[in-house]
Amino acid sequence: MTQHDPIDAAATALAGARRLLVLSGAGISAESGIPTFREAQTGLWARFSPQDLATPEAFAAQPERVLGWYRWRRALIARGGVNPGHEAIAALERHLPVVVATQNVDGLHAAAGSRDIAELHGNIWRDRCPNCGHETVLPVAEPDENAPFSRCPQCRALTRPGVVWFGEMLPVAALERAQVELEHCDCVLVVGTSNQVYPAAALVEQAVAGPATVIEVNPQPTAVSGAVDIRIAERASRALPAVVRALDEAPTAR
Ligand code: APR
Repeated sequence: MTQHDPIDAAATALAGARRLLVLSGAGISAESGIPTFREAQTGLWARFSPQDLATPEAFAAQPERVLGWYRWRRALIARGGVNPGHEAIAALERHLPVVVATQNVDGLHAAAGSRDIAELHGNIWRDRCPNCGHETVLPVAEPDENAPFSRCPQCRALTRPGVVWFGEMLPVAALERAQVELEHCDCVLVVGTSNQVYPAAALVEQAVAGPATVIEVNPQPTAVSGAVDIRIAERASRALPAVVRALDEAPTAR
């Protein structure tokens, strides 16, 4: 195993680690066909920016447009499904305890088999009443394009996805879970995030400033790329399976 190869260096770091925290963003789901937030959207939604749709104000002003966008995203997720990057992160659990703190709302880490997940921005498959808080979990399936938008069974208000919109607070339990793991882990894998949205980005900055070994997987440089211990400038669906293969073959594999 040559250490100048970042894949081998990452496998060596993971082979010697006790606990891994994964901090993931939209990039790990990009190869499932789900556009990241800073990429241009496609088709009907090309002229809209997520930042203009994922807000309470947009939902109040034009609920059907916002709900139509989430219906489109649910369809992309249901069609795309997990990719080798998600599966590789789940496979790491064969070697050490893994907590995944994700900014993604697509549910694909759980679908790939990861078992300990903190969803920092909620989950698109949850549907919540903005009035009375009643929440249902939707099946992971392509929505019926022609169905009316769902209404609360209790108060008949239009329901919204159970995700964190810009300007809203993150779920405290998920954020605390990530924070606790950050203080106890000895390896952090940052994958597919531009580190531009707080407080999730603060977790990455704290990781880089802390004692844990930090591995970044991102084909593009980010603000922390110069400060991480190991940088893999590759797509997640190629880099992460390669790291798992190197780890499986490592002589000290557990
Ligand atoms: N593998 C790894 N990384 C990738 C890949 C890939 N195949 N494709 C793109 N990326 C990287 C991009 O280079 C970019 O740095 O993923 C990152 C995606 O960044 P963003 O689109 O900003 O997504 P993210 O960091 O998750 O955004 C954070 O912003 O809009 C809000 O709530 C939303 O959760 C989202 C948050």
